[in-house]
Amino acid sequence: MQIDEFTLERIQSLYENLVELNLSDSGVHPYRLNELLNQEQQQELLSIELGYGWTNGSVQLRERIAALYSNRTSDNVIVTNGSAEANFLMVMSLLEKGDELIVIVPNYMQIAGWAKSLGVKVVEIPLLEQDGWLPNFELLEKSISANTKMLTICHPNNPTGSTLPLEQIQELVNFAKRHDIYIHADEVYKGAEFDGNELPSFADEYEKAIITCGLSKAMAMPGLRLGWLVGLPDDIYKTWQCKDYTSITTSAVSEYVANIVLEPTFRHQVLTRSKEFLIDNLNRISEWVDGNSWASFVPPKAGGMAFIRYDLPVNSTELAHEFRQELSVLILPGDVYGLDGYFRVGIGAPSDHLEKGLERISHYVKHKYGV
Ligand SMILES: Cc1ncc(COP(=O)(O)O)c(C=O)c1O
Repeated sequence: MQIDEFTLERIQSLYENLVELNLSDSGVHPYRLNELLNQEQQQELLSIELGYGWTNGSVQLRERIAALYSNRTSDNVIVTNGSAEANFLMVMSLLEKGDELIVIVPNYMQIAGWAKSLGVKVVEIPLLEQDGWLPNFELLEKSISANTKMLTICHPNNPTGSTLPLEQIQELVNFAKRHDIYIHADEVYKGAEFDGNELPSFADEYEKAIITCGLSKAMAMPGLRLGWLVGLPDDIYKTWQCKDYTSITTSAVSEYVANIVLEPTFRHQVLTRSKEFLIDNLNRISEWVDGNSWASFVPPKAGGMAFIRYDLPVNSTELAHEFRQELSVLILPGDVYGLDGYFRVGIGAPSDHLEKGLERISHYVKHKYGV
């Protein structure tokens, strides 16, 4: 099997633990277990049985997850190892050679990689900065063919932090209904909208939506490796069959914690903390952009990152390596999204790291590029 390098993840895997200031993450700085569990729960955790459990996720946890959506039950849910596995199972179960997949780009870039390796034809619809990183519906309409099976979107968007206005969510749903195609939405940043209004899930707007979500990003618990898919029961069953061939099940420890943190009041508290943290850092990076004439951005509306356009005579991958080698600061180059001239900065990093990293970057650019 041929599969493209997943450059976005490769750069992070290679370097994120080697730099002093890692600004490449897209989620909120993670919790510690003892910040989430009280004494009683910590004791209970020590006595749980480390069995396989339900390989599609315990009924209790699937019910908890289903309750986050309207009119969905445990049969609409499978629990996965991170949302990365959710995306993988979704592609492997619902797409096949000869299908066409409309991919709204940029995005996390995982889905297209797997789809291409299966022989699926990937049709890209670009989001452009001048459109506020929102889709062009005329282009979308032209991208449909008799073989189009699905459209996939990352919403809120990685890396730009853009979110669709409600009318555009509806327009996208109408488009999918008209052509009877799936909408796959990766919603891992949902719940971290800076205006405080949580966006509707595509699952609540369209029966034939399939949703990826999890605890890694807005919920700030990537180490639990806890994600899920929500979709039609038959499709979810297919992904379960595929899971038999992959990780079999999720960790009993992670499921225990997930049951606690997805309780509605708890979830609300976690998301409130995430938003406060992110908004504070967004203010810091906005000030920084204002003070650096070579940098600009469309401020993100949600999520853990800012996508910065830079006006410097250097390729983004080279620039990222310069920052890493000279400053011990890791950012993600726009190249990993096919968008040279930009770089991504995680605003979920601890504030002092963000400030220090940005300061090093300004200082370096001033001296090296004279701006
Ligand atoms: C949009 C999106 N989906 C999925 C993932 C995978 O995350 P995880 O497997 O930790 O849930 C990421 C990671 O950056 C992401 O940005």
